[in-house]
Amino acid sequence: MKPSLVLLAGAITAHALTGTATQPYPTYENTRPPFSTIQPSLASIHAVAATIAPSSPTSHVEGKSFNRIVQIWLENVDFSRAARNPNIQWLAQRGITLTNYFAVTHPSQPNYAAAVAGDYFGMDHDEFVSFPSNIFTVVDLLETRNISWGEYQEHIPHAGFRGMNYSNQATGENDYVRKHNPLILFDRVGEDEERRRQVKGFEEFWEDLRERRLPQWVFVTPNMTNNAHDSSMKVAGKWTREWLEGLLEDEYFMEGTLVVATFDESGGSKVQNRVFTLLLGGVIPRSLWGTTDDVFYSHYSTISTVCANWDLPSLGRWDCHANILPPLSLHAANRYRNAKDVEIENMYYNLSYPGPVSQKKYTKDWWPAPNTVATCASGMGVLEGVKQMWDIGEGSYEYTRAYPDDGFYGHGNIHGKGHEYAWKDGEEEIEEEVEVLPPVVVSEAAINGFRSQVLWCLGYVAVTAVLFF
Ligand SMILES: *[C@@H]1O[C@H](CO)[C@@H](O)[C@H](O)[C@H]1NC(C)=O
Ligand SMILES: *[C@@H]1O[C@H](CO)[C@@H](O)[C@H](O)[C@H]1NC(C)=O
Ligand SMILES: *[C@@H]1O[C@H](CO)[C@@H](O)[C@H](O)[C@H]1NC(C)=O
Ligand SMILES: *[C@@H]1O[C@H](CO)[C@@H](O)[C@H](O)[C@H]1NC(C)=O
Repeated sequence: MKPSLVLLAGAITAHALTGTATQPYPTYENTRPPFSTIQPSLASIHAVAATIAPSSPTSHVEGKSFNRIVQIWLENVDFSRAARNPNIQWLAQRGITLTNYFAVTHPSQPNYAAAVAGDYFGMDHDEFVSFPSNIFTVVDLLETRNISWGEYQEHIPHAGFRGMNYSNQATGENDYVRKHNPLILFDRVGEDEERRRQVKGFEEFWEDLRERRLPQWVFVTPNMTNNAHDSSMKVAGKWTREWLEGLLEDEYFMEGTLVVATFDESGGSKVQNRVFTLLLGGVIPRSLWGTTDDVFYSHYSTISTVCANWDLPSLGRWDCHANILPPLSLHAANRYRNAKDVEIENMYYNLSYPGPVSQKKYTKDWWPAPNTVATCASGMGVLEGVKQMWDIGEGSYEYTRAYPDDGFYGHGNIHGKGHEYAWKDGEEEIEEEVEVLPPVVVSEAAINGFRSQVLWCLGYVAVTAVLFF
């Protein structure tokens, strides 16, 4: 499908803005027309539920560091509060804690969208959104190599459900909500009969596990109680440990698997949007259990990591050069060196920049164009389909930075710094680059008293620094 004239006009406007960090966003309006929502009746939900069959494609495409990634998203808790939770601490002893992993804005929905599409397009609300088919997602990247994917959404009433919510029918409480279901927001999945049947419920998770047919890219959303949204960190901590404890003992689940357990956003909006993020699973070497990593990451890192792991092209948006996660970033086969100098002191990520799905800063008829000429962290360039859909060029934003725009500081995040990612060109060079990281200082009580070990491994040379706090 070719872009409409409107989009083409948008892309041309976008080109005029390219490369200038301090350029303002296009003019915007402070309101937008109401969205039309999908809100089927209970009867029709139940009728569809009786006929639609969930789909569970499988694949075995080997990655450099992992063969399966499982993302689990909890809700609205500040880093420090999550770090104090005893069940989260229990899990942290079995994995790596990322101490500078950032959500990208508030509220929930734009963060979920960002994690699959490489941008949130100005979204500043949880209302019904349906992204047009010229907006690609990680699914389009995975499918270039037939890598299977699936979402597991607790209490979604049936596979592929596109409605706003499905509440607890006995109590009326919030249970399943669309705003926490990232892929269904995009027409490339939501309007595709085949693809949307891979958006399933928790029953299907346990069945796929039993049948040894879990997909290689997995996204898990617990319901509004279990994810802390309508409850507390105490409830969410208990749920997360209970959900994972058996899986961490399951050989089939663990083998070659990276689990990324995180939060969509912080609880407060005046604090930095830093979210407690844990890496678990069979690919985390025991030597890294209980350690912390203070490199800057964001929700976009989950896309760049998947691409670098499986040699996939990029979406050409904020995913392009987002720092990639360990243990891939430490893996001998990895050629990409993360930006280490990202200055996070002034980054808040607590406000959305303007865009075409913004409520308060609505850029009518203007969509940001992707960068279609970048190489990106995987070295594979940008997806062919994206290139065909959009103009060839550097895109609307500085999408090749290691950190995204921060709406609080405005376009270009003039207070940010950190372009210094690089490629490892040869082993000689790698040996010279080996360095011991300075001690990671984590103030949170959770990490205190731990023996923190940082294993820094580049190429074939490993230097281990054991630091005692
Ligand atoms: C993906 O699967 C399709 C259908 O089975 C096949 O035609 C295609 O060659 C596969 N592509 C890759 C890259 O494996
Ligand atoms: C969706 O939420 C609204 C508001 O709580 C509720 O009235 C409605 O019954 C819910 N819909 C479904 C299908 O559960
Ligand atoms: C959320 O799911 C749990 C089971 O995992 C259930 O006990 C709880 O009642 C659900 N919440 C709501 C509001 O239905
Ligand atoms: C973002 O955080 C800054 C610093 O705490 C604060 O001044 C600002 O009001 C916050 N913005 C929003 C929208 O909460």
